[in-house]
Amino acid sequence: MKTGTKFIHAGTEPDPSTGAIMTPIYQTSTYVQEAPGKNKGFEYARSQNPTRKALEEALAVIENGKYGLAFSSGVAATDAVIKLLSPGDEVICGNDMYGGTYRLFTKIFEKYGIKFHYINMQDADNISQYLNSSTKLIWIETPTNPLMNITDIAAVATIAKGANALLCVDNTFASPYLQNPLDLGADIVMHSSTKYLGGHSDVIQGALVMNDADLREKLYFIQKSCGAVPGPMDCFLVLRGIKTLHVRMQRHCENGAIVAHFLRNHPAVAKVWWCGFEDHPNYEIAKKQMRDFGGMMSFTLKDDSIENATRVLSSTHLFALAESLGGVESLINHPASMTHASIPKEERIKNGLTDSLIRLSVGIEDAEDLTEDLNKAIG
Ligand SMILES: Cc1ncc(COP(=O)(O)O)c(C=O)c1O
Repeated sequence: MKTGTKFIHAGTEPDPSTGAIMTPIYQTSTYVQEAPGKNKGFEYARSQNPTRKALEEALAVIENGKYGLAFSSGVAATDAVIKLLSPGDEVICGNDMYGGTYRLFTKIFEKYGIKFHYINMQDADNISQYLNSSTKLIWIETPTNPLMNITDIAAVATIAKGANALLCVDNTFASPYLQNPLDLGADIVMHSSTKYLGGHSDVIQGALVMNDADLREKLYFIQKSCGAVPGPMDCFLVLRGIKTLHVRMQRHCENGAIVAHFLRNHPAVAKVWWCGFEDHPNYEIAKKQMRDFGGMMSFTLKDDSIENATRVLSSTHLFALAESLGGVESLINHPASMTHASIPKEERIKNGLTDSLIRLSVGIEDAEDLTEDLNKAIG
C-alpha cells in the first residue's frame, strides 16, 4: 500500500456487529463473560479495549512495525520505556530533548538509580565514549525540540546493536509521514500522539511501536500494570487524525518551507533553525532519513532582547501563543518559559536554547496569511 492508502485504512475494519465504517467508541470499563475465563478476548478495559486495539493496530501499520501500544500521554509512553530498566542501568540521550522528557529522566528516574548521560547526538561518534556494560538504552529525538538538530538514526542503531542496547526514537516532530525509525534499525518508536498524529489540538496521548514480540510483551505488561492507558474517545480521535496525516503533513511541509525562507530573508531576523536549509549542519542526514522537512522551526531576532521576543510573541494574530505543536492551526511558543521551562537555565543556555528563542509550529492555513501575520508582528 502507498502512504495515503495506508494512513486511511490502517487498523480499521468495519465494525463486526453493525458494519459501522468508523471504529465505535467502546465506552465501557468491563466486558460480560460467559463463564469464568470464557470471554471474547476482552476482560477489563485497562488491559484491552476494542477502540484502543484498532488504534494500536493502526499505529503499527503507519510506523512499519508489528505492534503498537497507546498511552494516556507522550510522557506516559516514555515512562513505560524507562520502566524496562533496572537500578544501575545507564541511558545515553540527547542534551536538547523536549523539556518534559528531561524532567522525567532527571526528577523521576534518576532517583531510582538509573543513570542518564545527556550528550550532543549530532555526531553519532560522540556516543561511543559513554557506552559501557551497563548501557541498556539509547534515546534519541530527531529533529529535536526546539533546535531542529538531526541525529543519524541508522548510525546510532548500528552503535546500539553493537552494544546490545535498545534504541528508542522520539518521532514526534517528524511523524511517520516523514520518517520511520524502525526501518532504520531502531527498536522502539515513541510518539506524543497529541501532536501530528491527533493533528487537531484536541487530545493528549502517546504511542510506542516495535517489531520484537518479547519487547511488546514487556511493554504491554508495563502498560496494563501501571495503567497509563488512553480512554476510548481519545483513541477514536487519534484514529481519525491518522486518516488525514498525509494530506496535513504535505501542507505542513509546503507552508514550513515558505515560512522558513520568509523568516531567513526578513531583515529583523538573526537566525532560523529549520532542517530543510541546505546549510543546516546535518542537512544531508535529514535528506537521507526524512521524506521532507516539516513545519517546525525556531528563530531569533537581531534585537536579541527578551523584551523584543516577548513583543513578537504577543503580537501575532493567526499564530496562537500556546504550548504544543502539530495541529492544523499555527502556534507560536517561547521555549524558555513554556515547553522547556523545566530545564535549568544554565543547561538550556549551554545547549543553545537562549531566552529569546521563538518556536513556530506552522499549521495548514494559507501560507500568505501566515507570513503576513509574522511580518506584522516582527515589524
Ligand atoms: C518531542 C516531544 N516528545 C514528547 C512530548 C510529550 O508528549 P505529551 O505532551 O503528549 O505527554 C512532547 C510534548 O510536547 C514533545 O514535543
